[in-house]
Amino acid sequence: MSAAIIDGAAISAALRARVAAGVRALAAEGIVPGLAVVLVGDDPASRVYVRNKGARTEEAGMRSLEYRLPAETSEAELLALVARLNADEAVDGILVQLPLPAAIDSGKVLLAIDPAKDVDGFHPVNAGRLATGQAALVPCTPLGCVILAKSVRPDLAGLDAVVVGRSNIVGKPVAQLLLAEHCTVTVAHSRTRDLPGLCRRADLLVAAIGRPDFVRGDWIKPGAIVIDVGINRVADPATGEGKTRLVGDVAFAEAAPVAGAITPVPGGVGPMTIACLLRNTLAAAATRRGRPLPADIA
Ligand code: GUN
Repeated sequence: MSAAIIDGAAISAALRARVAAGVRALAAEGIVPGLAVVLVGDDPASRVYVRNKGARTEEAGMRSLEYRLPAETSEAELLALVARLNADEAVDGILVQLPLPAAIDSGKVLLAIDPAKDVDGFHPVNAGRLATGQAALVPCTPLGCVILAKSVRPDLAGLDAVVVGRSNIVGKPVAQLLLAEHCTVTVAHSRTRDLPGLCRRADLLVAAIGRPDFVRGDWIKPGAIVIDVGINRVADPATGEGKTRLVGDVAFAEAAPVAGAITPVPGGVGPMTIACLLRNTLAAAATRRGRPLPADIA
């Protein structure tokens, strides 16, 4: 047996196309969704993300607003910008790129974002709404994980799901989303006893640890769906001195012969994050203006 490879590039492109169609429908009513992305400082990886987000936002027919602030920006200045964006009718989504400089309290900034414009789904109101089964803006990477899992198995009900990782950004929200899909969910972490044995019971395994090749092939239940959230850059001496490559949290070559379906890295979960951000921006724009969500992005 060899796993089906879940094509995140194709699935994200299809989602972006559905979002673009939804944007055109709103535009016909004179509504152009706007996404504001705020970058503080000049972390190179964050700059690349922000540039990609801006380009994809415009491709989808939405307005992209970028705010690049110097690393010395004070918390008060950033909070003032968030307040301005909250009040700006043309802004439907606000994303403050993380990590923020150490002098700024990220929790305070995320709390200041209007929950109706919180397209990252990081505000405690949205986290609470997700946890209590109410309509919410949900975090993009977790949403992408669930869309990928459902691409190979549309009904996840009853599956034993194991989520490895308990971050607020991925582990906890993906667990909540899988619970809402009627999975039996276990959240594992660094203190979990017998992690390999626990993973071996998973029909659906989500790896969000942040350590290269951490989940081994003999941890995988035969036929399981494996969603690898990890994006780890490692040395790749085989392709030349100083060269690197991206690997996931799952040892792909070991896991692929055992799993039923698996996401590759790159090309799995990664491209879903921006597609889901665009989806959330369209959802926020529609909801804020009392319009229904297009059924194919709901
Ligand atoms: N930094 C890395 N990923 C993300 C993300 O999804 N949202 C935000 N706000 N910052 C990030």
